[in-house]
Amino acid sequence: MKKILSALLAGAIACTAAFALAGCGGSNNAGSNSSSAASDVESKADEANKGELHMATNAFFEPYEFYENDKIVGIDAEIAEAICEKLGYTLVIDDMDFDSIITAVQSGKADFGMAGMTVTEERKQAIDFTDTYTNAIQVIIVKEGSDKVKSAADLETASIGVQMGTTGDIYVSDFKNATIERYNKGADAVLALTQGKVDAVVIDNEPAKAFVAQNEGLTILEEPFENEEYAICVAKGSDLTAKINTALNELKSEGKVDEIIKKYIKA
Ligand code: ARG
Repeated sequence: MKKILSALLAGAIACTAAFALAGCGGSNNAGSNSSSAASDVESKADEANKGELHMATNAFFEPYEFYENDKIVGIDAEIAEAICEKLGYTLVIDDMDFDSIITAVQSGKADFGMAGMTVTEERKQAIDFTDTYTNAIQVIIVKEGSDKVKSAADLETASIGVQMGTTGDIYVSDFKNATIERYNKGADAVLALTQGKVDAVVIDNEPAKAFVAQNEGLTILEEPFENEEYAICVAKGSDLTAKINTALNELKSEGKVDEIIKKYIKA
């Protein structure tokens, strides 16, 4: 009872905070669309009894998470599925804006976040990270034959498209003479590039490859930008971190993580 009460209270506070920031339940399929904080927490508690774990993600990030028909698939979706299977939970994936994921995890609306999410010191202040499961590079996409951006140094005075709240956004925000255009989806930043609205897009290498394959006339600059590592985020102090780590490390040593990555990323 005590637990439920404090969960209700935490949920209500988190929801109020979320309302102030972005509007509670403002993200697409994230949890219920109910406007009442209490019923949100209640339905969440019911689901927990059924043994569900909710994963918060932003499913426009191929090959990590993306829609195949109505289903969210990809490296993260499959690793999460394998982790849940080991821990005896049913996985439920909640799709939302990338910059809502940490709030969803902090408030308990989601149990963990997995979204090709890079471990950063700043994020560690807000949530805990599990062990890392893969690495990535931030790269620069430009139009073929671009004169404006030929190297990372050229970004400093360019107009750059990024997905809001991502590390790409964080890195280029240091450039005082650049113009940063922030989009909800990486695909929208890439669209702006094809339309000549921005000179370059900074985004993770694998999604970049997928975008370049799907859009004529784009190319990735050879020069890599920043190296990063991906991990799963969990509410601060939650015992889920240790549980996920146990399952994740088993999956790594069984070769399952590599197998899933190889399925989606052809060498
Ligand atoms: N790795 C970058 C970050 O953590 C981008 C992740 C974007 N993920 C997504 N599912 N849209 O900020």
